[in-house]
Amino acid sequence: MAAENYERVHIIGSGGSGKTTLARKLAVILDASYYELDHIGYENGAKRSLEVRYEDVRRIASQPTWVSEGGFVWWVDDLLQPRRRGRFSVAGRKLHTRVRQSTMNQNIQDEQVAYYRARAGEYDEWFRRDGRYDRGPEANARWAEEIASISDALAAFNPAGDVLELAAGTGWWTERLARYAASVTAVDASPETLAINRGKLGDASVRYMEADLFEWQPDRQYDVIFFSFWLSHVPLERFDAFWGLVRSCLKPNGRVFFLDSRYSETSTAADHRLEGEDATTTLRRLNDGREFRIVKVFYQPDDLAARLAALGWGMTVRTTPNHFLYGSGAPAL
Ligand SMILES: C[S@@+](CC[C@H](N)C(=O)[O-])C[C@H]1O[C@@H](n2cnc3c(N)ncnc32)[C@H](O)[C@@H]1O
Repeated sequence: MAAENYERVHIIGSGGSGKTTLARKLAVILDASYYELDHIGYENGAKRSLEVRYEDVRRIASQPTWVSEGGFVWWVDDLLQPRRRGRFSVAGRKLHTRVRQSTMNQNIQDEQVAYYRARAGEYDEWFRRDGRYDRGPEANARWAEEIASISDALAAFNPAGDVLELAAGTGWWTERLARYAASVTAVDASPETLAINRGKLGDASVRYMEADLFEWQPDRQYDVIFFSFWLSHVPLERFDAFWGLVRSCLKPNGRVFFLDSRYSETSTAADHRLEGEDATTTLRRLNDGREFRIVKVFYQPDDLAARLAALGWGMTVRTTPNHFLYGSGAPAL
């Protein structure tokens, strides 16, 4: 399709791929204004406020013709809303769908971090079965028994040596890992949960790192990698990349232990509604009524083990009677 047929064009591409040159040439051909996302996002090397960025993006999007360029970021979603669908080429529509999908994923990942940051002070109510998580003495006793059986499985696994805990949270499992490990590195995106974790352990053998696991890269390798109630928060389309990250964190002969939720009505708060075993997101509520949509993927043990085997992992995945799924193993290849 000839360039003249386009009215609003956003060009994405990796650094140095020529998107600025292309955008400038196209802007001349279309007699359109030309914008660089870098200039909207930053001023004198500092990030501009979200409000100011949105304001600029909406102003640009409201113009009849423009060309913009820059690595795609979720706050430019307004720029990418098609005004007249008929004018989008097939490639353009496909790209737009992919870009929208990645925007939605980024939004929900951001909302997930915001949720756990806001929830930090009340997070342990879930583990302790307090307040909205109190499902009565019998159900609470079953919960405690199942936690104890996983603690036993972790002890048998023996997470010794240098241990990396991903999405460590408020430290329920950091405490257990510290009993066996020579050192623990605990990574989480929420400074609030890490502060609680640090307060519980007060242990110099734990190194804390605040980082977004979808961007983080390890600075060393570990004997054991552990994550609890994290895999279910990894978007399905990031599953392979996440396990690639896990592998890159492991020493040769390193091992992995993880645990997570099974689909069970009584695991979550009494005022949370499960949205079906195949749902991949869920709505969570805080004690003050604020609501957040987060990623929540429920796995069946056999399916999960098969998915992992296809990625080259030898993992055994087991379940407790009601609430939990847990796995351990190492790269098979
Ligand atoms: C369900 S909690 C699990 C915490 C802990 N592992 C446990 O078992 O109690 C999920 C944790 O993931 C963290 N988290 C959410 N999104 C993250 C991200 N993108 N990168 C790193 N941590 C993230 C949250 O801050 C929270 O502490």
